[in-house]
Amino acid sequence: MLLQIENLLSAEQVVRFQGALATAPWEDGKSTAGYQSALAKHNQQLPQTCETARTLGEEIEQALAANLLFQSAALPARIFPPLFNRYGGGHSFGLHIDNALRPLPGGGRLRTDLSATLFLSDPDNYDGGELLIEDVYGLQSVKLPAGSMILYPATSLHQVTPVTRGARTASFFWIQSHVRDDSARAILFDMDMALQRLRGEVGDDHPSLISLTGAYHNLLRRWADT
Ligand code: NI
Repeated sequence: MLLQIENLLSAEQVVRFQGALATAPWEDGKSTAGYQSALAKHNQQLPQTCETARTLGEEIEQALAANLLFQSAALPARIFPPLFNRYGGGHSFGLHIDNALRPLPGGGRLRTDLSATLFLSDPDNYDGGELLIEDVYGLQSVKLPAGSMILYPATSLHQVTPVTRGARTASFFWIQSHVRDDSARAILFDMDMALQRLRGEVGDDHPSLISLTGAYHNLLRRWADT
């Protein structure tokens, strides 16, 4: 399932992020690529330990914690501290798949169930830089307004097309979900969205709504790992 999360960041946050990233210490992006994807990766990235990456990353994590659409779709158990990349002057990232396990900065490893890209540049300010994702419905081309995010299964082949004008800055990270299987997660998400709409129509205490909510939680209990 591909899901677009509009305005994860506010307009004020986007302007502040763009200002901070303009003067950040960018370096070659191969440093975090797996062996195979390093061959395809041509971009710049912020060191994980730099102050800008750390403070903006924390702000993104707070926005994710407060975003009900993200919480419902991802059912996050753990989120990798957000990374930042920049593509300009013909930079691209060829077709690849993300590593299944990511070493966490504090130790341990995160299983990458979902990948996320948060767009931080105004699309009018660069050409190219589409995120192409292969999903069950075919190749999807994604280029979102600054502050909006795409969430997609980390099992998907994907690439970033060359940026031929301007620069494309984004944050990217992975999520380990309580529900590993993408199709199970999609069912839970559909149910939760329908329950929220129904709640608006019939009120919190309608008996059918209560029993359907119970069914949702029983499915989640069955499918969730911790
Ligand atoms: Ni990737």
